Amino acid sequence: MRQYMYIVQASLEPVKCKIGRTENLQRRLKEYNALTGKSKDNIYRYLFTCEVKDAGQVEKDLKKKFLNLREEKSKKIYFYHSSLFKDYVVFIKAHESFLKEIFLKSETPKVKVVKKTTPTLEARGISRKDLLQKARKVKNDEFYTRYEDIEKEIGIYDKNIWHSKTVFCNCDDPVDNDEKRTSAFALYFLRNFENLKLKKLICTHYSKGVDLFNAGGKAYVFTKDGFTERHERKDFPAGFSGSFDDPLSLKILREEADIVCTNPPFSKAKEYWKILMESGKKFLIISNQINAVTPAYIPYFIAGKVWAGYNRVDWFLNPKKEIVKASGYWFTNFSVKDRPKYKNLKILKLKEIPEHYKRFDDAHTLIVDHNYIPEDYEKPFAVSVYPIVSGILEKGYRIIQDTQYFPYINGKRCFGRALIQKI
Ligand SMILES: C[S@@+](CC[C@H](N)C(=O)[O-])C[C@H]1O[C@@H](n2cnc3c(N)ncnc32)[C@H](O)[C@@H]1O
Repeated sequence: MRQYMYIVQASLEPVKCKIGRTENLQRRLKEYNALTGKSKDNIYRYLFTCEVKDAGQVEKDLKKKFLNLREEKSKKIYFYHSSLFKDYVVFIKAHESFLKEIFLKSETPKVKVVKKTTPTLEARGISRKDLLQKARKVKNDEFYTRYEDIEKEIGIYDKNIWHSKTVFCNCDDPVDNDEKRTSAFALYFLRNFENLKLKKLICTHYSKGVDLFNAGGKAYVFTKDGFTERHERKDFPAGFSGSFDDPLSLKILREEADIVCTNPPFSKAKEYWKILMESGKKFLIISNQINAVTPAYIPYFIAGKVWAGYNRVDWFLNPKKEIVKASGYWFTNFSVKDRPKYKNLKILKLKEIPEHYKRFDDAHTLIVDHNYIPEDYEKPFAVSVYPIVSGILEKGYRIIQDTQYFPYINGKRCFGRALIQKI
């Protein structure tokens, strides 16, 4: 008797797929569709089928490999996401029992990734100040983190920080109803759940943004016993928005989360930061690097409670999957060792710093730019965000003012800096 493995999906359940075994593929599909006979709209179709030698063994090994991705109550149901689906197929095809592929759904054509080149400010006829003012007004939150940037940063930390921990991704839809908006954070932790020895992963679907499926706010919870969907009606009182500041998200943050990891909406950076800081939780998040010299962040830098992570993040994906530039940086309260960015700091005697990069403002405060730092200057001086994220506060300097310092030169206000001083 021939043995087959299959992956099947119901059209009205895009978050799930079933992985099973049968001796008759046609009959099995009929059985599935008979189950939903009353609903003509909910049609099951195969996504993948293949012949194997020992289907029982493949099934057993699949369960072991993807333990966090099975639905908690029905072990045949797996979490569906196009990248995870590919992982399932790759696993089955690499299994020693695999004989031959029979069917694999064709890929939906990918949107081309176009690198957007940003014209220079000069070419656009605008000043830096115009741009900053405009940027403040633009509330474009749909900048998605690239998988490789998450992998690059998380890969540097000691793996033990994740051991038996609950990770909360509170601005991260794990579902790819609309693949363009799926969070790579969710995908990263789903794929590395076992490797990092996580206890639990909770990802929220925010319903007030672009919610094509009117799904309402949801939270997806993954443990080694499988996944569950917490949603309105069943688990939450009506009105759960999935927002990071929804009372129920705050409850998850307070009562369940050990580590928060996400790239929150840039336009709500201040509100997000306040909630995160008040929670006292460990975190690893992406934020606009300029935030490190804003009043919301500075006090925490002064207190030595937060610092920059290892990497900057310059490129994001917009919903069209185009690569767009933005100045992101990782921020964390996990220990950062041998910071590679120290090499950017140019700590020299004041007289050795090129004239071009040092000047005094109208209040006679020294301003140094371009990562130059005077080692023999005892008074406070102003620096941009770059030395802060490159680790100058770990090199014998401290921030001495808990608000931004705005230098004036010939009466003209310059962009905000941090006022630092040699200890
Ligand atoms: C900068 S994007 C990053 C998305 C994802 N974390 C990533 O790294 O790719 C911010 C996301 O937060 C969502 N968002 C906006 N306001 C939110 C809120 N109040 N609570 C939770 N998510 C929110 C946006 O719709 C957007 O998908």
